[in-house]
Amino acid sequence: MTEPAIVTEDIARQFGDYWAVAGVDLEIAAGEIYGFLGPNGAGKSTLVRMLCTLLRPTRGRGVVAGFDVARDPEKVRLRIGVALQDAALDDRQTGRELLDLQGRLYGLRRDERSVRVEQVLRLVDIGTAIDRLIKTYSGGMKRRLDLAAALIHDPDILFLDEPTTGLDPESRAAVWDEVRSLNEQHGTTIFLTTQYLEEADELADRVGIISRGRLVAEGTPDELKRTVGTDVIVARVESLTDTTLRSLQAVPGVDEVVATRNEVMVHADNGGAVMSPVALALHQAGTTVVSLTLRTPTLDDVFLQLTGTHLQGEVTSDAEGQSAEHTGDAGHAEHEDHSRHAEFAARPPQGDGPGSGPVPHADAQAGMAETS
Ligand SMILES: Nc1ncnc2c1ncn2[C@@H]1O[C@H](COP(=O)(O)OP(=O)(O)OP(=O)(O)O)[C@@H](O)[C@H]1O
Ligand SMILES: [Mg+2]
Repeated sequence: MTEPAIVTEDIARQFGDYWAVAGVDLEIAAGEIYGFLGPNGAGKSTLVRMLCTLLRPTRGRGVVAGFDVARDPEKVRLRIGVALQDAALDDRQTGRELLDLQGRLYGLRRDERSVRVEQVLRLVDIGTAIDRLIKTYSGGMKRRLDLAAALIHDPDILFLDEPTTGLDPESRAAVWDEVRSLNEQHGTTIFLTTQYLEEADELADRVGIISRGRLVAEGTPDELKRTVGTDVIVARVESLTDTTLRSLQAVPGVDEVVATRNEVMVHADNGGAVMSPVALALHQAGTTVVSLTLRTPTLDDVFLQLTGTHLQGEVTSDAEGQSAEHTGDAGHAEHEDHSRHAEFAARPPQGDGPGSGPVPHADAQAGMAETS
């Protein structure tokens, strides 16, 4: 068996008194797409930053591509690609210039760079816009360019921090396609954070649900949904008879039939599989069906059951955190920003743009200041 791509043991990070990540154990296999699902402030980015060697764990251990993130950050960085949540691209470059710079930062030769740029462009479809200034890009195109930049050195493991937040449905679908094809064609392990349950459901082989710094559930989307109960087929009918109910109960795979006046709820482990037999049974019993719908539990139901709040509607921990003081840790935040700016000043002339940049290597350098 090949070694896991990512392992964490009780990994945790404290800001002031506040544990943004409060001890998380993960084991993610090579080639897996792992979805890390949680609301605002749950600790997703903090965990990603620790795994990408940008932030030192306060406690516990993280091993990525076989190397300890605290002891061997350089080796980890060479094997990972990172598209951070707050990617800020230098508007004054073209997309191609940015990709070329990224290749240089990873030490690729000119000929290697031109080959890799063409390869990533095939994956991340930016079209002729690649030769336009980045300031002319839409939000979706910037996201895809950022993804391309994360892939330039052909990483084994890709970290995507909320890759589709703020994107329109079409751009979101395009990013999903790219993530899938990377995983299928290149076997890239993908660690993806998201606030969107459909995204986790759609893309991830396995999902970890994080709430307030803790992993509260983990499994395949189906396994997780099964924990909150079975599927329900709801049939609205003109009238119900005992015969109808008996014939529904006799359908193989049906667990329970609950009837109200003109509605019947059919519980089944696999609602999709019994949908047709249920429709047939209703028809054969001479029942006139007004509507027939299948309701399957969602990951939001799972989150609700575990935490008592909805995924999208949860108040951030900033507002009602474990400690009122945790946001007062400005000293630390400043330190981080400071080291990052220092690094940006040291980048090649093209790289003096604002923000954290799409450049994992540059971010990694900033992280080094923190980790060393
Ligand atoms: N540098 C920092 N200094 C102080 N507190 C921080 C720092 N970074 C994160 N936090 C706090 O840690 C908690 C978790 O933040 P994190 O960014 O990991 O959440 P998230 O799950 O990525 O949220 P979102 O979905 O909004 O991106 C939040 O309460 C946040 O305010
Ligand atoms: Mg985040």
